[in-house]
Amino acid sequence: MTIIRYFILSGSFLIVLLALCAKLDFRFPVDRGDFNFSLSAKSICEKIIGSQPVQYSVADWSKSIPVTNKAARPLQKNNAPVVHIISPESNSLFSWNTMIPYAVTVSDKEDGQSKFGEIATTEVFVEVQYFADAARAAAYQKLPQQKEPPGYTAIKKLDCFNCHAVKSKLIGPAFQEITRKYKKTPNLELLASHIVKGSTGIWGNISMPSHPDLPQKDAEQIVKWILDHTDKPDIDYLRGTEGSFWFRSPSGVASKGAFLLKASYTDHGTDNNYTSSITDQDMIILRSGK
Ligand code: HEC
Repeated sequence: MTIIRYFILSGSFLIVLLALCAKLDFRFPVDRGDFNFSLSAKSICEKIIGSQPVQYSVADWSKSIPVTNKAARPLQKNNAPVVHIISPESNSLFSWNTMIPYAVTVSDKEDGQSKFGEIATTEVFVEVQYFADAARAAAYQKLPQQKEPPGYTAIKKLDCFNCHAVKSKLIGPAFQEITRKYKKTPNLELLASHIVKGSTGIWGNISMPSHPDLPQKDAEQIVKWILDHTDKPDIDYLRGTEGSFWFRSPSGVASKGAFLLKASYTDHGTDNNYTSSITDQDMIILRSGK
């Protein structure tokens, strides 16, 4: 009987101790001489639960300023996403003037998997670039990952592509048309203020809503990216995990060359506010078979 009672008692003591450890937060008054006890409780807990760091804080009750042992906090690491163009296969051959469908998957430890609908397809971007010289496309593919222009990184996180496409008109004018209109006399400040404050009557009767949370400086970076990149005939910027594009040269007559597809995804970081974001990209080359 006594042995059973001993086991029940020590068992409940262990459960209480484990519950204390699980809380991982000890707050003891220094000026009451309990500090040593808090440290020994910490070391006991570390022994019980192994290598898991125990976070504890010591409150100086006389001044009521909590002092936290930051070094003991577990560090959260953001894992990199993995972007994969699953079709077509790299180095596939295509005939000129055909429509090519493509599909991309993204998998990220924190954000989830695109195949389960956990990644918004609107956050996946695909650049389709024509190279008249296939060898140059292959050389480009081998370059180390390049840093994106800040305006492109910024525009991808906003709602702009809901209404604008680079080469075709959606609700708003195509970015390439905007570039053609303003390229000769660009006024970054004015165009950026139209994005921040909203715009109506310049392109038609449909208004662009305001973006009051977008800082003017970021809007200027975006306008700079639009004007520098969107009127190039050999490159298009698409959005989504699935889509298609025309396998044809910008002039429509060339019969040699290759296309480079670059898919990218920027994850949300550990804190969902992008401060520790990582971008991954995948590239494939498609060649002409005829
Ligand atoms: C709800 C749809 C919608 C959204 C979202 C939207 N736009 Fe627009 N945008 C339009 C329309 C419509 C116009 C044409 C407005 C006009 O005629 O004045 C326009 C015009 C523009 C212009 C040309 C302005 C000018 O002065 O000629 C730029 C540049 C532009 N948009 C960039 C952006 C950017 C960058 C974003 C994202 C921050 C964005 N748009 C979001 C619909 C939209």
